[in-house]
Amino acid sequence: MRAALVPEIGRLPEPGEAPEPTREKGEALVEVLAVPLNPIDVNVAAGRFYGGSPPTPYVAGSEAVGVVRESDSHTPGTLVWAHAGTKRNGALAELFCAPDAELVPLPEGTDPALAGALGVAGLAGWLPVAYRAPVREGETVLVLGATGTVGLVALQGARLLGAGRVVAAGRRPEALERARRLGADAVVSLDEDDLAAAFREACGGDGPEYVVDPLWGEPAVAAAAAAAPGARLVNIGQSAGPEAPFRSADVRGKQLEILGYSNFRTPREVMHREYLRLLGRATAGGIEVEIETVPFERVAEAWRRQAEGAGKKVVVEVGG
Ligand SMILES: NC(=O)c1ccc[n+]([C@@H]2O[C@H](COP(=O)([O-])OP(=O)(O)OC[C@H]3O[C@@H](n4cnc5c(N)ncnc54)[C@H](OP(=O)(O)O)[C@@H]3O)[C@@H](O)[C@H]2O)c1
Repeated sequence: MRAALVPEIGRLPEPGEAPEPTREKGEALVEVLAVPLNPIDVNVAAGRFYGGSPPTPYVAGSEAVGVVRESDSHTPGTLVWAHAGTKRNGALAELFCAPDAELVPLPEGTDPALAGALGVAGLAGWLPVAYRAPVREGETVLVLGATGTVGLVALQGARLLGAGRVVAAGRRPEALERARRLGADAVVSLDEDDLAAAFREACGGDGPEYVVDPLWGEPAVAAAAAAAPGARLVNIGQSAGPEAPFRSADVRGKQLEILGYSNFRTPREVMHREYLRLLGRATAGGIEVEIETVPFERVAEAWRRQAEGAGKKVVVEVGG
């Protein structure tokens, strides 16, 4: 079958041939339609993911939308989203196997690219504000990295879930304008000299009461310096750096709550329930994500676009 294989750690995946996967008991064989690319895919292939990388060569892709061909518990022909994880061969192929329990049947007529875009990235934006530390009515929310997919979903999710003022922060000006169009009351460029002051001014009042943080590094430190007493900061990623030199005076003096969020640590039933809730919101027009679809043959180019930060959810079209 056609598959995008990472030949060795540090190299891009290229279209090639791989043996068809053999379905084990309790697994489903899925015909793949769409595979979104995520920072985790790039990091696993580069050998930078804390959870490690599979032995090479391996089929890339940690999630997919497809149609069930064979399964013990799902009807053949069912459209599903599945999180394949990063421990073994992935989903960037004509066929892949995943445990039946990992499959989420999708409503009829669901757009596979949208369903994919809302998977790993959508959930990482939605679950912090909806589940890990639910946004409180009227809260002032600062979203770092609101120029990426995770941040953009978090921003719109916070708004839907009752936030008061919502401020978007990021680097690329055109993507900050997109965040404004999708509901941010104010935007802050991460290029500001005094970032903490800029956050405080944009948020007003005592500063942000809730910080959504896919970046870590200096932006998270500045957000903590700007934060209101008792504020919560939920860390989702480390796009700006793996370390952040927080000042004790900020964390202790304001009794900040710094929380971590990981899709991998979230119970499966919560992931699946909230995924369908998020998909429902997006289908109804309450949450938008910008998607760039790329044909399977151009997977290496799609990979490069994701690695460079496309600003859109890059989705590889495999079949259909
Ligand atoms: N915890 C989880 O379960 C989970 C799940 C999914 C993703 N994540 C993490 O969440 C983060 C965002 O993912 P995504 O899907 O939104 O990625 P994305 O769409 O590629 O967006 C990347 C974001 O990071 C920003 N960025 C990149 N490098 C930066 C730097 N050096 N300084 C400041 N900002 C920087 C980009 O800003 P500009 O576009 O303005 O340059 C953009 O906002 C990643 O770190 C990812 O690994 C975590």
